[in-house]
Amino acid sequence: MPKSKFIVEGLAGAKTLRGSIAVGGAKNAVLKALAASVLFDDEMPLERVPDIEDVKRMRELLESLKTDPTVLRRDIAERMRASVVLTGPVLARRGSVTFPFPGGCVLGERPIDLFLDGYKAMGATVEERGDLFTISGKLKGAHITFPFVSVTATETLMMAATLADGETTLENAAMEPEIPDLAYYLNECGANIKGAGSSVITITGGKPLRANGIAYVTPPDRIEAGSFVILAALVGDGVTVTNCEPAHMQALLTLLRRAGVNIEEGKDFVRVTKGGAYKSVAVRTHEYPGFPTDLQAPMAVFLSQAQGEATILETIFDGRFRYVDDLIRMGADITVMNPHRILIRGPRILTDKRLESPDLRAGLAYILAAAVAEGTSTIENAYTIDRGYEKIELRLQKLGLNIKREEV
Ligand code: EPU
Repeated sequence: MPKSKFIVEGLAGAKTLRGSIAVGGAKNAVLKALAASVLFDDEMPLERVPDIEDVKRMRELLESLKTDPTVLRRDIAERMRASVVLTGPVLARRGSVTFPFPGGCVLGERPIDLFLDGYKAMGATVEERGDLFTISGKLKGAHITFPFVSVTATETLMMAATLADGETTLENAAMEPEIPDLAYYLNECGANIKGAGSSVITITGGKPLRANGIAYVTPPDRIEAGSFVILAALVGDGVTVTNCEPAHMQALLTLLRRAGVNIEEGKDFVRVTKGGAYKSVAVRTHEYPGFPTDLQAPMAVFLSQAQGEATILETIFDGRFRYVDDLIRMGADITVMNPHRILIRGPRILTDKRLESPDLRAGLAYILAAAVAEGTSTIENAYTIDRGYEKIELRLQKLGLNIKREEV
C-alpha cells in the first residue's frame, strides 16, 4: 500500500473557510451493515457506502470468507476492531467462527469479554488457543445483561440473535443511532427486533434474512459531521455542513452554542456563521445521546482556542489522550490530570509541527489543529485518517483550506 501524508497550510487563527461540505456515509454504521450481509440468503444491496479504507478491509474479510467460511483473516482482523462484529453473523449462520483478538485504534484496553460472555450465554462454547478464539454451537435465545454499555457488543449479539432459536433480550444495550438504523433494515428483511434505540432490545430468532432488492442506505456520519462543525467554528467564515442529521448531534451543538458558536440547524444541515471569541465549556464523554468520545480530540482543539480553563472527562476509554502531547508541542496549554481527565487553558496560538496521529479520530483533530495554526504542518500517516474519512483533502480544499496529499 502506498504511504502518504497530508500537508496543511495553517490560517494562523484567521477565519476564512467558506461554502458547504457534504457529510459521507457513517463508517460505524456501514461496517456493521456489511457484517450483517452474512445473515442473508440473497444479495444485500448497500447505498451511500463511503469510500474509506475500513470499508475496503471489511469487504476483503467478507471476500475471504468465501474460501474459508468460518475463519476471519488474521492480518485484517488484527488491524480493525470492527472485524469482531463479523463474529456474530458468522457464528449464527455457520455454527462456528475462528478469529484472532481484534486490533484497531489503540484507545487503551479494548477487551472482548462481553462478546464471549454473550456467546456462552447463548449456548456456544469458547475455545482459546493463544490469541486465537474459536466459538461454536447452535445459538439459543438468552437473557443477557451487559455490565456496561458497548456499541459493538450490542450490535454483534443483536445480529447473532436474529438467527438463534427463540428469544434473546439484551439489557443495558447501547443506544447509538446506528443501532436502531440497522435493526430497522434487518426487520424489513425478515428479522424480528424490538426496542433497538432503547436500553432493552428483544430479538426473536428466525430464518436467514432476505433483502429482496431492498437496499441498506448508510446514514450520514455524525462524527464526521461534528468534526466539520468544529472546523467551521474554528476557521470558518460561513460554512454549511450538509447531508447530516442534526438530531443526532445535539450534545455537541448544545456545548458549542454554550461556548458562543453561532449555529443554525435545519433538518439535514448545520450552518456555522462567523463568531467572535469563544469561551471554554466542560466536556464529559458519554454513551449516546451524550457527548461522543469520537469527538473528544476535535473538541480539545476547539477548547485550545477558547477563552478560559476547560476540562475534558473521558469516561469511555482509558487511553484516549495520546494526542495531547502533540497539541502541547504545537503550543496548546494542556495538563493531563489522570488517564481520564485533561485541563485545557486557552486561547493559545498553535504553531506548525510534524505530526503522526495515534488514531483515526485524533487524525482529523490534527487536521483541525494544523488549519488553525501558524505555518505549514505535516500529518505523516494519512492511512489512519483514510480509514474513516473519504478523500478528506479534496473536500476541505473546496472550503478553501490549503491541504494536499503527498506520496512518500
Ligand atoms: N469493552 C469491554 N469489553 C467488551 C467490549 C467493550 O470492556 O467486550 C469496553 C471498551 O474497552 C470500552 C467500553 O467497553 O472501554 C465501551 O466500548 P465500546 O465497546 O462501546 O466501543 P466499541 O464498540 O469497540 C465503538 C466504535 C468506536 C467508538 C465507541 C464508543 C465501532 C467500530 N467503533 O467501539 O469508534 O469510539 O464505539 O462510541 O463502532 C472510531 O470510529 O474511531 C471508534 C473508535
